[in-house]
This record gives sequence, C-alpha cells and structure tokens, in this order.
Amino acid sequence: MSVRHFLTLLDLTPEELQQIIERAIELKAMHKAGETHEPLKNRVMGMVFEKSSTRTRISFETAMAHFGGQAIFLSPRDTQLGRGEPIDDGARVMSSMLDVIMIRTFEHEKIETFAAYSSVPVINALTDRYHPCQLLADIQAYTEQRGSIQGKTVSWIGDGNNMCHSYINAARQFDFNLKIACPEGYDPNPEILDAAGDHVEIFRKPGQATENSDLVVTDVWTSMGQEEEQAKRESAFKGFIVTPEMMSQAREDALFMHCLPAHRGEEVSADVIDGPQSVVWQEAENRLHAQKALLEFLLVPRDQVLG
Ligand code: CP
Ligand code: NVA
Repeated sequence: MSVRHFLTLLDLTPEELQQIIERAIELKAMHKAGETHEPLKNRVMGMVFEKSSTRTRISFETAMAHFGGQAIFLSPRDTQLGRGEPIDDGARVMSSMLDVIMIRTFEHEKIETFAAYSSVPVINALTDRYHPCQLLADIQAYTEQRGSIQGKTVSWIGDGNNMCHSYINAARQFDFNLKIACPEGYDPNPEILDAAGDHVEIFRKPGQATENSDLVVTDVWTSMGQEEEQAKRESAFKGFIVTPEMMSQAREDALFMHCLPAHRGEEVSADVIDGPQSVVWQEAENRLHAQKALLEFLLVPRDQVLG
C-alpha cells in the first residue's frame, strides 16, 4: 500500500478520523493512569519548523518520547532546505533515514511537493492554508465534554484563515454545521468553501453566527507571516471580538475554543477565554494525545495496536 500522509483532514476517511479521536481519548486515559506504551521504539521523527511554535513542537516531541522513539528538530536556519536545496531532493534524503516527518511551513504547495517525494508519512503541522492537527485536538475536546459533534452547530468568528479552512473540512468529515462570521475581504478560500456545500454558511454579523451554537471558535486576526498587515486587520476585524454578549446568543451549554496563542482584548475578551465555557487548556493538552493517536495510525499496523 502506498504511504499515507496527513496534509489535510480529507486525507483520512470519516471513519479513520473517528477512530483517531477515540484512540486519542484512550491514550490520554492510559497516560493519566501512568501506563507505559512504546509502540515507536527506535523510530525517529523529523520536525521541520519554518514558523514559530510552542504547542506543536512540544506535543510532537513529547509524543515521540512517550512512545519510545525520538524526534529531531530541524530549523531551516541549520539545514540545507533553508539554503535552497530542492524540496524533492530534501524529501528523498530525509525520508530515507527518518520514519515520519512533520512540517510547519508557509505555502501549502511546499508540503504537497515534499509529500510527493517522501517515502514515509508526512504530517502537516500548519501551513498558510490548513492546520489539521489542531482539529484533531479540538474534536477530541468537544467529544470529551459533550459527546459526538455530529449534527451540532459550530460558529467560527474572525479570519477565513488556515484554522477556518480546517474547520470547513472538519464540518464535512465529522458532519456538523459551520457558521462562519468574517468581514468582507477575509472570506475563506472559495474552493474549500464550495466543496463543503450545505455544511457551511457565511455571515457578516458575528451575533448571527453564534445563534444557537454548540461551540464558538476564534483565532488571531493576524496569522504568522501576515505581520505587516496587522494595523489594517485590526480595523477590519473590529466588532469580531468574542464577548460574553456574543456567547449569550449561543446555547447555554456552548463551549468556547481557540487554538492559541490568543490576544485577549482583540479576537476574544479575557472573561470569555478565562471563563467557564472555555476549554482552551484541554484543547492545548489534547494536541499531545491526538497526535499520538495520529502517529500510531500512520506508523503502527492495525493488528499491532495495543490497548
Ligand atoms: N495552536 C498551535 O499550533 O500552537 P503553536 O503555534 O504554539 O504550535
Ligand atoms: N492562524 C494562526 C494559527 C496559529 C496556531 C497562524 O497561522 O498564525
């Protein structure tokens, strides 16, 4: 069978994604119970980071350590990739030695090219277009708190960015309704949006998007790589701050999520992100458990996965 990659949520079937969420919950419980589980002994992961990271780097490195394997942090400052070595050459060489490679980069096409030439699984640890690993953690957090997300209503408030695109794909794969509120000019990519059909609706007023919602999600207004647009974005996104008033339009038991890092007073008020409906710390912690489940899925044959 050809090698499986995880570049977007669409690389896995809905059943496989569901299996990963269930396994992530199981692996979390095993970890909390102090069980040792080392399915990746002697396996090595390469971690290519062309952008900053706290959660993604720590969760992948820790996952490999818990699993009995190792991770190598590869900054473009120190590798030939950063000096212009062709991506296909880098992919061939790196995948001849490593067992799995995660990449955080700018252009999504770059990770697609890398994956096309890699003989081992490639994981998208964020590109300008998608952030699928975060969605595994978010869906795990929702499932733990409220049960299945199927048929629920999720509101995305803010930029039509990489996280928003992954929420659109998640709406398709996990079968929920997504209401997106974004200012004109900051819509998600129309192809990604159109492919989701009835699963997704666009609103211009955030209050409309949160009405009767089960989960309210936001993200920064200025993503990594867009720093020079900061001032313009701050004025475009005025009114898109998630406040207690906006949360009160949602269902009483609605949750609030944010992939972090967050800017209190910009996209979300402190009383929401630090309030009782917020599950941002569970989301962040789940990066570890969900990515362990993903690594196991990509690297361990089904019949060798142990509980
Ligand atoms: N949410 C997320 O991916 O965080 P980092 O940028 O810290 O990895
Ligand atoms: N949209 C943000 C997500 C950070 C985890 C960014 O790309 O910077």
